[in-house]
Amino acid sequence: MPTRRGVAVTAVAEERDGVVDLAAMGAQLARDPYRVYAALRERGPVHRVRMPEGAVCWLVVGYDEVRAVLNDPTLSKDWRNAAPDMALPPVAAGPHMLIADQPNHTRLRKLVAKEFTARRVEAMAPRVQQLTDELLDAMLAAPDRRADLVEALSFPLPMSVICELLGVPDLDRAAFRHWSNTAIGAEPPQAKLKAAEEVGVYLRDLVAAKREKPGDDLLSALIRATDEDGDRLSSEELLGMAWILLVAGHETTVNLISNGVLALLRHPGQLADLRADFGLLEGAVEEMLRYDGPVETSTFRFTTEPLDIGGTVIPGGGELVLAALSDADRDPARFEESGRFDIHRDARGHVAFGHGIHYCVGAPLARLEARVAIRSLLERCPDLALDTHPDALTWREGLLMRGPHHLPVRF
Ligand code: HEM
Repeated sequence: MPTRRGVAVTAVAEERDGVVDLAAMGAQLARDPYRVYAALRERGPVHRVRMPEGAVCWLVVGYDEVRAVLNDPTLSKDWRNAAPDMALPPVAAGPHMLIADQPNHTRLRKLVAKEFTARRVEAMAPRVQQLTDELLDAMLAAPDRRADLVEALSFPLPMSVICELLGVPDLDRAAFRHWSNTAIGAEPPQAKLKAAEEVGVYLRDLVAAKREKPGDDLLSALIRATDEDGDRLSSEELLGMAWILLVAGHETTVNLISNGVLALLRHPGQLADLRADFGLLEGAVEEMLRYDGPVETSTFRFTTEPLDIGGTVIPGGGELVLAALSDADRDPARFEESGRFDIHRDARGHVAFGHGIHYCVGAPLARLEARVAIRSLLERCPDLALDTHPDALTWREGLLMRGPHHLPVRF
């Protein structure tokens, strides 16, 4: 249907000169990206889109195609391989594994991977439970029996856990949250630059303070690796590592808890089933990841040679490619009745944590936090309910993250 500005490709998105303008959709896209991606998928797996973040990129939809992109060795994560005319936001802090290719990627990942093995993470369960209990004590003390779940639980829990793991309990969380939200959101380039500069200064000071007073924690271990053997981790990479762990450690899990609880509250039958049998919890968290996962599209990848996806050839030379994880996990060719939230289904195989060599290193920790938080919340709040109409929720803008700014609940 031709419109004043272009051609409507879905009920809301418009295409002009072969580019689908997702940026023009504003909050509408953030509210329901699934409908838009599904409409694109109907037309094929590869689309030129203008992102709310500003740049034009190639967006890949559909389960098989998304997995192929995530696993393609010709796609580079190194921002130095971006096309020269691509105005990328500044790299905050320093280089890190999510913007590195082999063999650098393996070297960096190996330095922290052992911290996140299933066994190491299981040992953190009592502390995660204790932190959850404290947060719920505070939440339940509210005389009006109402709270914003994001502020009361979803944000502070993962933030506290990652801060303790790194050994930075005094991190200025409000400032860090602002920098991190700015760096990965749809903010203008000047704001991103300012945030990157500020966080660089802050992390440098944080590392200096830790160097003065090392402890039995991950940051101290990484500082030792840098000081003793700069080939294993340079000083700039040390900052990048602290940054990526702090950002990835909390920006994502907050949305798993919020989106997961929201899905349960909107599906009372499923909620009742879970309350009746917490043996379903593990599968329920996988379904939460599939149905409304925290990461909407992958992070940036760049072509190093022409890439053929379903007959569409994306040129080489540093073209920006994004894989729509949220669409892959709603692809009916892979998940039957994909738009239905069903905690009884086998949701394994979802790509909410990515796929291939950059598969989320923190997945076991995120799963643990979500299980503990959601079970404790339900056990302690038998009357938990949404305290607003779902349509009144506002959602984070930008293609990367998927989650509500606030989640008002009563209990
Ligand atoms: C529910 C919570 C989480 C979700 C949905 C999630 C999702 C993801 C995804 C999709 C990727 C791959 C991105 C891509 O390939 O473009 C990724 C990578 C990564 N995640 Fe997570 N993540 C979560 C929690 C965490 C936590 C708790 C940590 C750390 C403590 C963490 C650390 C990382 C790191 C370091 C990478 C980069 C891995 C690499 O490049 O090899 N994530 N995550």
